[in-house]
Amino acid sequence: MPVRTIYWEDDCCKIVDQTLLPTEFKTIELRSAEEAWEAIKALRVRGAPAIGIAAAFGVYLGVRDADGDAAGLIAKVKTVADYLASSRPTAVNLFWALDRVVAKAASMQDAESHAFKAALLELAQTMIDEDNAVCRAIGEYGTALLNDGDTILTHCNAGGLATASYGTALAPVLVAMEQGKTISVIADETRPLLQGARLTAWECRENGVPVTLICDVASGTVMQQGRVQAVIVGTDRTTANGDVCNKIGTYNVAVLAARHGIPFYVAAPLSSIDMSLASGDEIPIEERDADEVRNGFGKQTAPDGVKIFNPAFDVTPAELVTALITEKGVVRPPYKENLKRLFSA
Ligand code: MRU
Repeated sequence: MPVRTIYWEDDCCKIVDQTLLPTEFKTIELRSAEEAWEAIKALRVRGAPAIGIAAAFGVYLGVRDADGDAAGLIAKVKTVADYLASSRPTAVNLFWALDRVVAKAASMQDAESHAFKAALLELAQTMIDEDNAVCRAIGEYGTALLNDGDTILTHCNAGGLATASYGTALAPVLVAMEQGKTISVIADETRPLLQGARLTAWECRENGVPVTLICDVASGTVMQQGRVQAVIVGTDRTTANGDVCNKIGTYNVAVLAARHGIPFYVAAPLSSIDMSLASGDEIPIEERDADEVRNGFGKQTAPDGVKIFNPAFDVTPAELVTALITEKGVVRPPYKENLKRLFSA
């Protein structure tokens, strides 16, 4: 069974510290909004759905000891939510979750303090249950796109570690296993932070999924050799026209998949689809510290003083996306029309 990445226990939010994997599996405790902020920023908890849930718990942690009436608590929720929103800019799930918490708080103007805070905690916990159901549905829709014996290639980690526990891009593989099918995974290592090597390879192994790890630069070769029947990746933010923002390098994979006639699927919970943005050009792309490239994992691999550009995400144009696998079904082009219809349904 997939591990629980994030949950509430012993009066605190517990997360798997993903910076320690694959060599150490350790659960750490978040007891304040500041600890939640740091955990998101440092990628102890990462992956779009998981950081949304972590932020929701973070707001509760930030207000649970606050005094005052509902009006004061509502203002405090807004302040803490704004603070947590500053942790990472790209994954829309973070803002989606915080907006929900702020809206919940605003709806409780007459609540007494204890009930107000309990409702915030309950909302964060509900997000875990919702996430599990969403991932499960994505798994079922995604599995139907695959044949027994297929190998999928994935980039970064959009498995259980990136969600509450089940994963998005890897959910079709888990559902296939339950159905007695064998789907193998090729995992891109995913420079510079190696989410594919450290996390996807680890969780596939833990779940008994056949996995082969490749360097990012080998993805063209494995496609050319006919080893890949489909690509499935996750997304941090997909816009109203179907442009897909995901971990840096995803665009390269999409171009290669198109070159080789391999379907490029994106597992996209509705919480990762930002209908307020017309296209991927409007997505704020996080740039991370140069040391992630120069001194990755403590080993200097580039000369001192060299200029480094380290965007954490890229945008794959909608025209390269074969389909979006959502919890409401598989969405195909034209995305502008079909996403609009999905959201208004
Ligand atoms: O920087 P990260 O590790 O948070 O990036 C994660 C990804 O790019 C995932 O593919 C994305 O969040 C989807 S997770 C279901």
